[in-house]
Amino acid sequence: MPSRDDAVALLHAWVDNVGLRNHMRAVEVAVRSYARRFGADEEVWGLAGLLHDLDWEKYPEEHPLRAVEELRSRGYPEEVLHAILAHRHDFTHIEPETLLDRTLLACDELTGLITATALVRPSGIEGLEPKSIKKKMKDKTFAAGVDREEVVRGAELLGIDFDEHVANVIAAMREIAPELGLVR
Ligand SMILES: [Fe+2]
Ligand SMILES: [Fe+2]
Repeated sequence: MPSRDDAVALLHAWVDNVGLRNHMRAVEVAVRSYARRFGADEEVWGLAGLLHDLDWEKYPEEHPLRAVEELRSRGYPEEVLHAILAHRHDFTHIEPETLLDRTLLACDELTGLITATALVRPSGIEGLEPKSIKKKMKDKTFAAGVDREEVVRGAELLGIDFDEHVANVIAAMREIAPELGLVR
């Protein structure tokens, strides 16, 4: 299996946009935290989080098919590829089935909403609570690109209470808040 260093090198080769790199890192830490919670393989799960949007910048129209093709040729585990395919189930028609599939889906859009919310707060991600996220979710003009239904469905797919899920993802992102630019 390719190492995390291999994955980071690949990410840097394919993704220039700092915001997108940060998003992929945020999803990685969130997915890793759930791997620990569920007793899954953190290294494998982390790869799915880190690389899920690998081809978004280069081949947006084919996302994530080009990424999966590249990762398969490099020997990434099938469960990572399946999760990456399922995070765009509307396009790939690969439905989220495994716990990793569901976790990736549940963390993807939510990290975007948390980042957007933290960026407009004077204290960044510090002290950010689920209730602020829920308030922002109701404001449809705020971070309009974030699919609210997918955010709610993610927690349902995981079978975790919505507030708890949001708190978990915030806590995971806080671990690397300086790197994500979410500390004031
Ligand atoms: Fe994506
Ligand atoms: Fe994503």
